Amino acid sequence: MDQTKTDKNLFHPGDLVLLTDRKSRRYMVTLAEGETYHCHLGRLEHGQIIGNNVGGWFRTDKGHILLGVRPTLGDFVREMPRGPQIVYPKDLGNIVNFADIFPGATVIEGGLGSGALTSTLLRAVGSTGKVINYEIDESVLPKAMRNIERVTPDTSNLEIKIRSIYEGIDERDVDRIVMDVPEPWQAVPGIGDALTMGGIVLSFVPTILQVQKFVLALEEDGRFQMIESIETLLRSWHVTERSVRPDHRMVAHSGFLTTAVRCEPRPDGRAPQKGDASGEQQDGAESGEENTD
Ligand SMILES: C[S@@+](CC[C@H](N)C(=O)[O-])C[C@H]1O[C@@H](n2cnc3c(N)ncnc32)[C@H](O)[C@@H]1O
Repeated sequence: MDQTKTDKNLFHPGDLVLLTDRKSRRYMVTLAEGETYHCHLGRLEHGQIIGNNVGGWFRTDKGHILLGVRPTLGDFVREMPRGPQIVYPKDLGNIVNFADIFPGATVIEGGLGSGALTSTLLRAVGSTGKVINYEIDESVLPKAMRNIERVTPDTSNLEIKIRSIYEGIDERDVDRIVMDVPEPWQAVPGIGDALTMGGIVLSFVPTILQVQKFVLALEEDGRFQMIESIETLLRSWHVTERSVRPDHRMVAHSGFLTTAVRCEPRPDGRAPQKGDASGEQQDGAESGEENTD
């Protein structure tokens, strides 16, 4: 008996399959009995895939061979139907990491958009956690929910409120707040009220001016410490026997992540002195300003 032919290893109707051609171009298909997938490489009956192995090779009627695997969440996000601009996989992973999203966490999210970040947060909080999303534009809901439901078996722990997150947050003692909205600084008072002590807020924005306004608002509020801003540059490599080099193309820019921790205000009422990421130089070091920390 073929040991790989277990139920888990086989494609079933309703499954997503990611087909890859010899040039690494990707095509995502939802399998259904009796359907046919068409592309410039020819026709492929879904029935040729259903009941066969994940990781198998499938031949179109024009003789092209396609590899079929299950898409990762990142693959799905890249290929899924979009409304508003999505957060890309390179940032999604870092958001989960830097906002420290954990199983069982209660997370407030600002901005539903196309549902890429929401799907990622739901996966990270798991069935014991909860995601409560504030979104101002009701029209994004149908497409976002279709996307989220494709990759999230149970969405009962997702609540969506059609409201501006700038107007305040109803919930209290929440573990994490993650935002992808244009003016996150407007949400700062509400975030301070909603976050549990030690809770983390993370904002994703595309421009550095937005980062600065958010950071200054957090500092002025006084209830946030450990404020940090980063961006991620991700470069893939071409590796063959004859040549090893970076790929020619990369996503040069997507956005910046800023995180902060809800704390008691500093007893001296001053903003913290900041060093760079290496900790080698404090602001004011060159001017000889005294560090009174
Ligand atoms: C860039 S999209 C979010 C994309 C989403 N993170 C994703 O990965 O698919 C920004 C979303 O924030 C929503 N939005 C803008 N201002 C808002 C506010 N004040 N409160 C809540 N949502 C807001 C927009 O309607 C839009 O759907």
